[in-house]
Amino acid sequence: MTGFFITFEGVEGVGKTTQAQKAFDLLDGKHPGKVIMTREPGGTSSGEAIRNIMLEAGNNGIDGMTEMLLVFAARRLHIRDVIEPSLKAGKIVLCDRFTDATFAYQGGGRGVDEKLIAQLQDMVQNTLRPDLTLLFDAPVETGLARIGERSKPDRLEAETISFFQRVRRSYLDLSQRYPERIRVIDAARGADEIADEIRTILRENGLC
Ligand SMILES: Nc1ncnc2c1ncn2[C@@H]1O[C@H](COP(=O)(O)OP(=O)(O)O)[C@@H](O)[C@H]1O
Ligand SMILES: [Mg+2]
Repeated sequence: MTGFFITFEGVEGVGKTTQAQKAFDLLDGKHPGKVIMTREPGGTSSGEAIRNIMLEAGNNGIDGMTEMLLVFAARRLHIRDVIEPSLKAGKIVLCDRFTDATFAYQGGGRGVDEKLIAQLQDMVQNTLRPDLTLLFDAPVETGLARIGERSKPDRLEAETISFFQRVRRSYLDLSQRYPERIRVIDAARGADEIADEIRTILRENGLC
């Protein structure tokens, strides 16, 4: 058994966590105990501590290169302790953000050279790549309006509209480069309609 690795990507508020939870419920119903839900940055206790360093408002000395290094440090632990063992056990792994987010946020958003990101990707992941990536795409204002009610913005949520527009652009560029892996989902629609499309995609992949 080799498992199946699905990642959920997109800017803040597009519905990644909402849809990952729905996909989890659907898949877990079909494959009880064989589906895990995790997230990045984070996914392990040390990884969550790294996430807090990255996202804590006020950590303004942290630049794009540092974010990239932090996120790959957390990713190494996450792969070693959670993702690879689960895939080896034949499980379906749902991950709320992964390396496309590093290309989009630290690369597109912060201007870190994507060749450096690609080098770390090879170093930390070896050949591991998602089998399927669901990219939730909507105008950045749509997502930001949805999370408007969330209490206090974290370091990344506090970024400017133009930052998120660069991130969105960069995600869409990735989807053109890897069309066989990355499925772009129109995230401006209602949650139920989006969930129906995802169910179809999961069915196409033989997962439900
Ligand atoms: N398709 C949708 N239409 C309207 N609101 C949505 C939709 N999907 C999620 N939401 C709401 O928008 C907010 C952000 O959704 P969330 O899933 O947390 O996004 P993300 O994880 O991408 O930041 C939540 O309050 C959620 O209930
Ligand atoms: Mg989320």
